[in-house]
Amino acid sequence: MPPALEAKSINKSFGSHRVLHDVSFAVQAGEVHALVGENGAGKSTLMNIIGGIHTRDAGELLLKGQAIDPADVWQARQLGISVVFQELSLTPNMTVAQNIFVRREPTKALGMIDWQRLNADAQALFEQIGVEISPTELVGNYSVGIQQIIEIAKAISFDAEVIIMDEPTSALSESEVDRLFGIIADLKAQGVAIVFISHKLGEVFRIADRISVLRDGEMVGVTKPADSSPDEIIRMMVGRSFDDLYPPKGVVGDEVILEVRELSHPPLFHDISFSLRKGEILGIAGLVGAGRTEVARAIFGADSYSSGSIALAGERLDIKSPREAIEKGIVYLTEDRKVMGLFLSMTMRENIVSAALGRFVGALGILRHKEIAAESGRAMQRNDIRPRDDLLSVNSLSGGNQQKSLLAKCLSANPKALLADEPTRGVDVGAKVKIHQALRDLANHGVGVIVISSELPEVLGLSDRVIVFREGRISAILAGDNISQAEVMRHAVQ
Ligand SMILES: Nc1ncnc2c1ncn2[C@@H]1O[C@H](COP(=O)(O)OP(=O)(O)OP(=O)(O)O)[C@@H](O)[C@H]1O
Ligand SMILES: [Mg+2]
Repeated sequence: MPPALEAKSINKSFGSHRVLHDVSFAVQAGEVHALVGENGAGKSTLMNIIGGIHTRDAGELLLKGQAIDPADVWQARQLGISVVFQELSLTPNMTVAQNIFVRREPTKALGMIDWQRLNADAQALFEQIGVEISPTELVGNYSVGIQQIIEIAKAISFDAEVIIMDEPTSALSESEVDRLFGIIADLKAQGVAIVFISHKLGEVFRIADRISVLRDGEMVGVTKPADSSPDEIIRMMVGRSFDDLYPPKGVVGDEVILEVRELSHPPLFHDISFSLRKGEILGIAGLVGAGRTEVARAIFGADSYSSGSIALAGERLDIKSPREAIEKGIVYLTEDRKVMGLFLSMTMRENIVSAALGRFVGALGILRHKEIAAESGRAMQRNDIRPRDDLLSVNSLSGGNQQKSLLAKCLSANPKALLADEPTRGVDVGAKVKIHQALRDLANHGVGVIVISSELPEVLGLSDRVIVFREGRISAILAGDNISQAEVMRHAVQ
């Protein structure tokens, strides 16, 4: 039997930059084949070529042994290849069902859209995969985690024979990951071929039948989990082994930088009170939907709140917009890069400027271009953004490098308090260690840092104190020896 899908000797360059070099890859029907590699290794590019988004310069694509040449996403889907994109591609102001069936809506006589059927089909799809999502809700009203699940449901709805999932779990909580793995097991049993791209090697070892490793655009090897280990995979990825160590904890004084008192916005969150100290990393743990992001957005002025107060360095704030928050010194690194974080079509240099405009305006309102160039060069270096060219538009960077750019932009704004929501989403093991170090450095320089993360080891490893959220309320504030996985879980779910 030929593989469900095979890519042979694929070559691809963007301009003079060679991104894929004679890459071959195959996935069988009923197989979960993981594709791993550092940020910028070429994973998304390879899958985008298979999925009809990019064209290849050379090489062959075979579907069950037959040569194919998908010209766009729609053709690829008609052939039975569906991609769940790394960047969410849903339209926030359309309903869930509209998003799933866009351009193939069921119609009634005279070509009118059959809304009832549209919603019923979406409902049936959700029942099939066992999730509770309302077909008639606007997509934008759901968290990034749920949007990711909708995106996956959409891919499944094409009756695909090959489903490519590009970091499907980067925004999912542990229980959502379990649910996704259940869905994948069902698809596998139906003979669907699945390509699973992830930086989370724990997940890869749990679910993959085979693992392929890309390094700098070349395929360095294919192995099976039973014949390998996470350490070995990391060595294949980066050419050396790696310790996933967290930076040492800080020395935190008593000075409070951000004080939140009885902040409420029913039904999202209630009576949120805590203080963030200078030099502290305060972790916020909890299940997805527990209200963590909502509170962060309220502090940042992106959403309103009904009652309570926020003070920065002793001064009571009445922030109405993110812009005001940034001016005051509160910066929010968002979980959704697209919506609030980066100007994707602009260059890294422009993004850096936009975060810290005031600092670069000289006499007569003229921008100090040399200083901007120097600052953005430093930011590229410090955050290890590759390729090292600050005049490339951010959307031509790989997913992980976009994430690093977002952090760079936040740091350039010189914050007093930084709220980092899923700061290492989609970055590779090496870059993750660097981001953790960058956050700790920031704290050591007197900034108050809040880290929201669904990855418990990250919260535990980084934080000086941990706040646990449950159903919109604070259920515990843990410090010192009380910070443990068991304690956090106990307060998060009970
Ligand atoms: N549209 C584009 N124009 C120019 N360069 C691009 C474009 N898309 C990707 N690249 C470059 O191709 C290289 C590979 O990127 P790709 O997105 O495939 O990496 P990846 O392995 O998916 O990384 P990540 O883990 O960060 O998502 C990167 O150097 C990236 O900057
Ligand atoms: Mg990618």
